[in-house]
Amino acid sequence: MKYFFANWKMYLSVQESIDLAQACVSVEYPQDALTIALFPTALAYPHVSHVTRESTLALGAQNVAWVPKGAYTGAVSAEMYAEIGAQYALVGHSERRHIFGETNDAVKKKFDACLAVGITPVLCIGETQEDLDAGKRMYRLKKQLLSVLEGVSANVSFVVAYEPVWSIGTGNACDHLQAAEIHDSIKNELHTYTDQDIPVLYGGSVNSQNVVSYVMHESIDGVLVGSASVDADGFATIVNAMIAA
Ligand code: PGA
Repeated sequence: MKYFFANWKMYLSVQESIDLAQACVSVEYPQDALTIALFPTALAYPHVSHVTRESTLALGAQNVAWVPKGAYTGAVSAEMYAEIGAQYALVGHSERRHIFGETNDAVKKKFDACLAVGITPVLCIGETQEDLDAGKRMYRLKKQLLSVLEGVSANVSFVVAYEPVWSIGTGNACDHLQAAEIHDSIKNELHTYTDQDIPVLYGGSVNSQNVVSYVMHESIDGVLVGSASVDADGFATIVNAMIAA
């Protein structure tokens, strides 16, 4: 099984999200070989879910609050996303960590909140350029995994997305051979926490031209795509490239 997760970030208006979702549902793909999930912005989510309700596309939240309800102005909880049928939620996306100041501790709470309500968390990890320059890539990745996965029960299912911060939205995609090697290391590390076969997706400047170079590797279970997933042609081209790979 390969995965194509489309993170629409805050790129689209509500109407644009609905229009794109309409285009996405008409793209055919083999469900037994490919899982596709859309991650629309919170306000567009219920509208997009209306469009995708009879399709095989899964939906996910871009971010969740770990407390179910309460005095948390501006927040939307994992519990609320579960109420409207979200299957996945990104936790610890680099933009949440680096723009909104999310700590490993907050990411863990979000991860656990998703599991508690039956949402599959997509744990995003990645080193910064500074980490890379200091030779701390694996140190950073291991630390981000440890802080969330320590004590996790061996039978829970989740997804990991390896997204080097320096490659997100920059056009500077990580070399696919290097990414495949890092995915192997991440998978080894994951085996210290769980016996499950956890999918590990690559994210960071993936587009319709380079997607195949990633998914052809056994250790890369799929891709988390931002800007290249927010237009109908780009979306369809990525799906078709993945099917043909
Ligand atoms: P990008 O974003 O594809 O635009 O680099 C990926 C992501 O942030 O998930």
